[in-house]
Amino acid sequence: MPSTADLRARNLEFWTQAAPGWIRHADRQDVTGRPLGAAAMDWLRPRSGERILDVGCGCGGTTAELAAAVAPDGQAVGLDLAASMVTAAQHRFPPRRHTGLRFVAADIETVDVVPGAPFDAVFSRMTLMLLADPIAGCTTIRRSLRGGGRLAATAFRGGGANPWLPAAMLGAAPHIGSLPPLPVGDEPGPFAFADPARVKRVLTAAGFDEISIQAHDVTLRAPDEADAVAEWLIELGPAGPAYREAPPRAQAAARSGAARLLDRFREPGTGYLLPTGHWLITATTPG
Ligand SMILES: C[S@@+](CC[C@H](N)C(=O)[O-])C[C@H]1O[C@@H](n2cnc3c(N)ncnc32)[C@H](O)[C@@H]1O
Repeated sequence: MPSTADLRARNLEFWTQAAPGWIRHADRQDVTGRPLGAAAMDWLRPRSGERILDVGCGCGGTTAELAAAVAPDGQAVGLDLAASMVTAAQHRFPPRRHTGLRFVAADIETVDVVPGAPFDAVFSRMTLMLLADPIAGCTTIRRSLRGGGRLAATAFRGGGANPWLPAAMLGAAPHIGSLPPLPVGDEPGPFAFADPARVKRVLTAAGFDEISIQAHDVTLRAPDEADAVAEWLIELGPAGPAYREAPPRAQAAARSGAARLLDRFREPGTGYLLPTGHWLITATTPG
């Protein structure tokens, strides 16, 4: 098992390399990816005047949604490890048009508290399972919340509940360079929170109360554009950095390989219906 320091370095390298793909697909991710965080948004019920932190905010779409919900006097802070995604978020949502919105580049595991703390609530969409040391990251989150503050996060369940994710990677893999190492045991990765008992252990160790982990099934709806959908899913997944490095002919082969495996989720004339199983993870801080 690699050390936490090695896993953190691997995480930073992966997200730095994956960032250009996420930036390219940011608008599609905001629209098509919305169901990935909808249950957490609903549970959180952000209120006017609140201060909310968005952990692993990517290119900022969910942070902007939170800022709109807490306007006019509240504030939403988006935090992400990838500095280029934070820069992209700042360009997409400039302060002159989006008040009460701020972005910070930081590793949630290694800051003591997030600048701007204490927050009333923390939102996090599909990020906590990617942390090298999730107890450290969730402890920072707990320390950054006020007493009685609330956390609402989502994380993928297993690969069986999210079959399009391995399909895009496996379809592309034979045509592009080497992929990151497959996670072993508790190592970070899309399915590292598949076991709800582990999620509960992590949040308990981080000092949270009233922990609840509920299964939610949603469908991501993408347009009937095989090539574009294949590229979106490749670039946002574990094969993204290798895909971007590959020559154009290999990229085209990777897209058709992924499109072939994704075809079972395609309804001609309607588009792609991608079944997605995630946990809605909620908790509060003591006091
Ligand atoms: C799967 S993406 C989700 C992005 C966004 N929440 C969404 O749903 O579109 C995970 C995000 O978490 C960020 N991330 C990974 N490890 C992190 C860490 N230790 N601290 C802060 N952000 C991290 C990545 O850079 C990436 O933007």
